[in-house]
Amino acid sequence: MSQGAAPLPARFADLKREIAASYPNFQERITQAWGEIIAQLKEVTSTIAQAGPDYIPQVNFADLDKVGEEEMEKMKRRGSVVIRDVVPDAEAIRWKELLEEFIRVNPDVEGIPVDNKQFFQLYWTKSQVEARSHPNVLAASVWLNKLYRAKEGVSTEGVDLSTPLTYADRFRIRRPGVAWDVHPPHIDGGSIERWEDASFRNCFSSILSGDWCSHDPYELDGRLNAMSSRYKRPNQSSVFRTFQGWLAMSETAPTQGTLKVFPDVHLSNAYIILRPFFRPTVSADSAGFLDASNWEFDISSPDFPGIYPRDGGYAGPKPTPALHPHLELEKTMLSVPKVYPGDTVFWHCDVVHSVEQEHTGTEDSAVMYIPAVPLTPINMSYVNRQKEAFLASQRPPDFPKGPGEDKFIGVAGADDIAAPIGRRAMGLPISVA
Ligand SMILES: [Fe+2]
Repeated sequence: MSQGAAPLPARFADLKREIAASYPNFQERITQAWGEIIAQLKEVTSTIAQAGPDYIPQVNFADLDKVGEEEMEKMKRRGSVVIRDVVPDAEAIRWKELLEEFIRVNPDVEGIPVDNKQFFQLYWTKSQVEARSHPNVLAASVWLNKLYRAKEGVSTEGVDLSTPLTYADRFRIRRPGVAWDVHPPHIDGGSIERWEDASFRNCFSSILSGDWCSHDPYELDGRLNAMSSRYKRPNQSSVFRTFQGWLAMSETAPTQGTLKVFPDVHLSNAYIILRPFFRPTVSADSAGFLDASNWEFDISSPDFPGIYPRDGGYAGPKPTPALHPHLELEKTMLSVPKVYPGDTVFWHCDVVHSVEQEHTGTEDSAVMYIPAVPLTPINMSYVNRQKEAFLASQRPPDFPKGPGEDKFIGVAGADDIAAPIGRRAMGLPISVA
């Protein structure tokens, strides 16, 4: 059983058996793969443990078209990228000032911690609406969306990676000194669904067939129809975000409450997807605990390590040093390089990420959450529902239910989105009425 959590229902043992039965020679092939993945993790984790924030690739927005093939491959493998100067510093700083003003004139906004609000249940302030629909932000999204591709012969009807969509999320203005422990290492966008939903599972079919080296986290095929929110749990995204993202509105350096990532999405996927099919045969304090010879294939339990029941659905994957020891998370979660206002950080939707617990700086660390979202039929249908919420100043469909923003001063409306690309991304008519 996962440590300290309620057990998963017995049907998840059936799910393991179904998965095992659906791939030829499953036990033999994934046992071989498991040994290889562990061996490669040993090397890669020791390299990452020696690395600093510069291990995370960085590129200027103006140079996106000049990224060479080698650098591109590095970015894709590491799974995260800092894109600098997507918008001018002054614009990002102005957005932060407007947000501060919004909070000042609307003291009833919901935020946590309640006595010193820093993370806000707000979606439709002018700053957020402007930032998400900014042509450069959307151009960066397109660039990221296009890192994905479909295999030949796969239908991509209704899909256009060059057409960006908007996914409204929140923002934070984190004050120095306050410890945050709400974001330990985790993966967003789909929990048990990664195994339970046939289309989502298809994203990992190479891994499950034992050919883990061929796994391509940027293959579109399974992503397009993946049901990432089977249980409709609040805060579980139901859309396909190619990358999750942050837009910085202040300077934030490592140790100042910034984002941390496990910088090898190929390998973390391979390990996390196969982890539920193995268990250690010796205790964690034994010598050689990490050796492949001390782990055995076992599909008898319903447990999926790092997956937890929550709010009528499931949360996680939340890898931990105890449950996923080969990731060496204590040494491998790398802080992203220092960002400045107008810079962005993007991480692939499968990347294990966390937020630094401490903020040792002296200034606010302020970011808006803005992911990259391509046009797909499922995404467009969400955007249409999201648009209705926007026009009524209510919370977007994927998020916790609660009061809308219609009573607040300074909420954005459809006329606040001027750029055609921004209007289209919101599902609005191209020209302002
Ligand atoms: Fe997250």
